[in-house]
Amino acid sequence: MKKYYITTPLYYVNYKPHIGHAYTTLAADVLARHLKAKGESVFFQTGTDEHGGNIEKAAQANNVSPKKWADDISQEFKQMWKTLGIEYDYFIRTTDENHKIQVQAIFEKMLAQGDIYLGNYKGLYCSSCENFLDKSELIEGKCPVHKKEPEEINEESYFFKLSKYEKPLLKYYSDNPGFLAPEYRANEIIRFVEGGLNDISVSRTKVSWGIPVKSNPNHTIYVWIDALTNYITGPGFELGKESEKFKDIWPADMHLMGKEIYRFHAVIWPAMLMSLGLPLPKKVYAHGWWTVEGEKMSKSRGNIIDPRELVAEYGLDPFRYFIFREVPFGQDGDFSKEAFKRRYNGELANDLGNLFSRTVNMINKYLDSSMPEKPENSVLFSKLVETKKDIEKDMDSVQFSSALDRIWKNISLLNREVDTRKPWEMAKTDKEALKKFLHEMVWCLRLISSWISPFMPSTAAKMQMHLSVSGRPEENKKIEPLFPRKQ
Ligand code: MSP
Repeated sequence: MKKYYITTPLYYVNYKPHIGHAYTTLAADVLARHLKAKGESVFFQTGTDEHGGNIEKAAQANNVSPKKWADDISQEFKQMWKTLGIEYDYFIRTTDENHKIQVQAIFEKMLAQGDIYLGNYKGLYCSSCENFLDKSELIEGKCPVHKKEPEEINEESYFFKLSKYEKPLLKYYSDNPGFLAPEYRANEIIRFVEGGLNDISVSRTKVSWGIPVKSNPNHTIYVWIDALTNYITGPGFELGKESEKFKDIWPADMHLMGKEIYRFHAVIWPAMLMSLGLPLPKKVYAHGWWTVEGEKMSKSRGNIIDPRELVAEYGLDPFRYFIFREVPFGQDGDFSKEAFKRRYNGELANDLGNLFSRTVNMINKYLDSSMPEKPENSVLFSKLVETKKDIEKDMDSVQFSSALDRIWKNISLLNREVDTRKPWEMAKTDKEALKKFLHEMVWCLRLISSWISPFMPSTAAKMQMHLSVSGRPEENKKIEPLFPRKQ
């Protein structure tokens, strides 16, 4: 059976990982966990993008070789993913030998078939983007992203015939309406392609830290051509060979990325695949950007959020919960510690935490150790089950905040039930009714725990342990709160 293939961008190793990188990788992890729980087989790949002038400069500034620098930072990324509970299947580095060999071979193939040709590049170049800029993109003469003046350059360069793929791309977009996602991003891409595609420069003579063009090693291959190719080299693509592993994984089902690199994924990458004669991914999904208290995160502003600090203060699961509850996946969002704390105390400590501890305390007090069969004719349980389809649909389509909203509506419903049915009074008046009610609650909470599991795996496991038939803690008379309140 073909695996569901999820990717994140390969992150540059010029700076250590932060909340922005964590966001995409956690999204991939949440989706992977959700699909695995449904019984799907999943291949989840992430990694690091290690070539290019910026990385060379970062290494120089730190007095180490680019390779040593890349080794250290990619290790930091791996460490970060471990801290955040991310269970990827494969971590690819663009300095991996096998990747380099395939990138070179692919370049030569495109060259041989005329999709890459040698020419001359004359124009503007932003070394921070590592990209050529068109005059029309500049704002007050400066790069719109890095706010600095681009250099004028004139150099020999290989070009990829992107122009040739204008019509095939437009046809693909129109034949595959789900490909560009979220839907509201499709227009921008379609308008861009309809506006006419220029061939793009795909080699550099000035950047030495890169994969050399095999037939002309004065040139190194442009970082983006190198990096995008990871999506096929990771799962084992080998030019000219049929690999079973590759066939079980490719095409990707979900390429996830931030909106700033959407064009690379929605235009250049599919054109490269067309040139290679490979099937195209099912979906390219761009999410929005996190700012911090209204500002762009940057080294110079000193406002870069390191998830490790938040995890140390609040715990891992609350962090994983917060970033997906706070902002609809796709839109921009602003990170504020105030908002985090508010949601932590409100939705986690109060709504879920209290519901869980008061229910488990009652279970331990009033029920014998055996756990109940699925309740029949429970209106409450049926009400929850009714929402399952929509929650799953949201999860399948990475609408995480909407899924969490639905789950929390159910949690509120359960809290209201406890408040209105007053089980502590039933304990005095009607033991049978109490038992039935608690049985219903056990099943409802089991359902809640399964829904929150992709976001908060250890909280879900803790809940399930207390609600399980066997393996319940001996000393569960007094349970620890799931989320201790923060002052
Ligand atoms: N190396 C390229 C990607 C090559 S993919 C074949 C690159 N690297 S990056 O280190 O700059 O990572 C960019 C990605 O990190 C974004 O697309 C997004 O996934 C994530 N984010 C980095 N900062 C972010 C925010 N402030 N907010 C949300 N996501 C952000 O581009």
